[in-house]
Amino acid sequence: MTFLSLPLLASGSCRQFSTREQTPQICVVGSGPAGFYTAQHLLKHHPQAHVDLYEKQLVPFGLVRFGVAPDHPEVKNVINTFTQTAHSHRCAFHGNVVVGRDVTVPELREAYHAVVLSYGAEDHRALGIPGEELPGVLSARAFVGWYNGLPENREPDLSLQLAPDLSCDTAVILGQGNVALDVARILLSPPEHLQKTDITEAALEALKQSRVKTVWIVGRRGPLQVAFTIKVLGPEGGSRGPTMWPSLGRGEDRSPVAARRCSMSPTEAPRPRKRLTELLLQTATGKSAGKEAAQWALAPRAWGLRFFRSPQQVLPSPDGKRAAGIRLAVTRLEGVGEAARAVPTGETEDLPCGLVLSSVGYKSCPIDPSVPFDPKLGVIPNVEGRVVDVPGLYCSGWVKRGPTGVIATTMTDSFLTGQTLLQDLTAGRLPSGPRPGYAAIEALLSTRGVQPISFSDWEKLDAEEVSRGQAAGKPREKLLDPREMLRLLGR
Ligand SMILES: Cc1cc2nc3c(=O)[nH]c(=O)nc-3n(C[C@H](O)[C@H](O)[C@H](O)COP(=O)(O)OP(=O)(O)OC[C@H]3O[C@@H](n4cnc5c(N)ncnc54)[C@H](O)[C@@H]3O)c2cc1C
Ligand SMILES: NC(=O)c1ccc[n+]([C@@H]2O[C@H](COP(=O)([O-])OP(=O)(O)OC[C@H]3O[C@@H](n4cnc5c(N)ncnc54)[C@H](OP(=O)(O)O)[C@@H]3O)[C@@H](O)[C@H]2O)c1
Repeated sequence: MTFLSLPLLASGSCRQFSTREQTPQICVVGSGPAGFYTAQHLLKHHPQAHVDLYEKQLVPFGLVRFGVAPDHPEVKNVINTFTQTAHSHRCAFHGNVVVGRDVTVPELREAYHAVVLSYGAEDHRALGIPGEELPGVLSARAFVGWYNGLPENREPDLSLQLAPDLSCDTAVILGQGNVALDVARILLSPPEHLQKTDITEAALEALKQSRVKTVWIVGRRGPLQVAFTIKVLGPEGGSRGPTMWPSLGRGEDRSPVAARRCSMSPTEAPRPRKRLTELLLQTATGKSAGKEAAQWALAPRAWGLRFFRSPQQVLPSPDGKRAAGIRLAVTRLEGVGEAARAVPTGETEDLPCGLVLSSVGYKSCPIDPSVPFDPKLGVIPNVEGRVVDVPGLYCSGWVKRGPTGVIATTMTDSFLTGQTLLQDLTAGRLPSGPRPGYAAIEALLSTRGVQPISFSDWEKLDAEEVSRGQAAGKPREKLLDPREMLRLLGR
């Protein structure tokens, strides 16, 4: 094998790549953080690699656009880094291409030296309880998609998710993760706090009319097992806005008794969890002095945490037409600390509410019958990003390790997949000889009537969104309708 003398900085060491892989054609499926960080790593550490990013939406950036809360704009600054990557002359973005429908994974594998699947977790985990299908029950994923302008959750497309009905007094959120806190904050924030964000106009209008005054965030385990973090809940959020002091539910759930029922005292907990628990207990015991806490206590809208309650059934209204409450199984913990398991005590509690938001996690789906998928774990089986038993196929991000972790975790994980791929390239484990890359796929897409969107197309849409937002003092007004986007691009 002949080697070019190309010293490369990968993992701090000099790397060499064989001439036959001078221009490795690499395809990345998905343009969220995992897709962009994988591409960034490959482009940085291989001077010839060409990376094509395929994206099903017309627009890039995945959950950074459609997940991150509108009142956390600083998180979206990662878009600047992703844009730099997309501007590389060795990188191309192809939006509006659904892999698994418009083009198959075997077709991509034929056209490229390597394919990286970074398509995230697009579905939500079902609760699997009676009544879940009733109107008034919504996944947090759909609710987040609605306020963030995800085309499939837009209104008034009656064939798809409807806008949530906010005419009730009480909403219950099931699950105690960061998504649950985002959803509660958006439901309860005064609309004037949201109107200078990139929340969609339709969501803002609906929230202005909202009658929801009380939000319960329900967990099946205790305060020491909550999945949300102090960064999202507490004052460490800094620029993220005010601390979310719970202002409801003084009593058993939030008393120190609850902490004692957690099989671990807060003082034994690891440091970040200890601080989180202390913050929760301060409010539970009424020691949350300070202006912010006082403001939350006086606020016309309030939220609270309920612990040791597992969803058992959505209760229907008398006419059976919509949700009117939730039956919760009272639980106790078996085991210690974060690994403790919730087991039912046999008691139940009914909580009346008009809106149930299920926030028990996202879920990845299989993309193509040729790609192995573990339905139980909801991931593509892989070893360090190499898809098991499929040479030349890799994965990164939430579809690789499951739907948890912040953008920084996804970055580290994606760099590792990039590194694995480059190691295989160096070791001659990828196909030899030139590959056509996008030229072959473009021809296929054209025969199938697919109209891909380039990154410069996206920049035109971006400019349009920014200009529409300016009038209302917002960073942007998101375009929601793919047909309108195509029209704006002259298609
Ligand atoms: C509601 C919510 C809020 C969050 N807020 C924060 C936050 O404030 N800070 C933080 O650090 N982290 C936050 N996170 C976590 C962060 O968003 C994730 O760590 C990260 O987005 C995971 O990246 P990913 O690329 O694996 O998935 P995604 O971001 O979901 O990207 C996957 C991409 O693949 C595309 N795709 C899917 N299927 C196909 C297909 N068949 N063909 C082509 N393309 C496809 C999708 O359209 C999407 O663009 C939040 C997560 C959620 C759910
Ligand atoms: N600002 C931010 O940084 C931010 C914002 C949003 C999301 N994120 C990240 O995105 C990831 C996903 O967040 P997420 O909130 O969707 O998921 P998550 O962190 O995994 O939380 C899921 C919650 O649902 C509960 N749950 C799961 N199955 C349940 C069931 N069958 N019945 C009752 N409760 C159930 C879990 O309880 P158990 O613990 O008992 O299983 C947990 O409280 C997380 O890593 C999060 O940190 C970050």
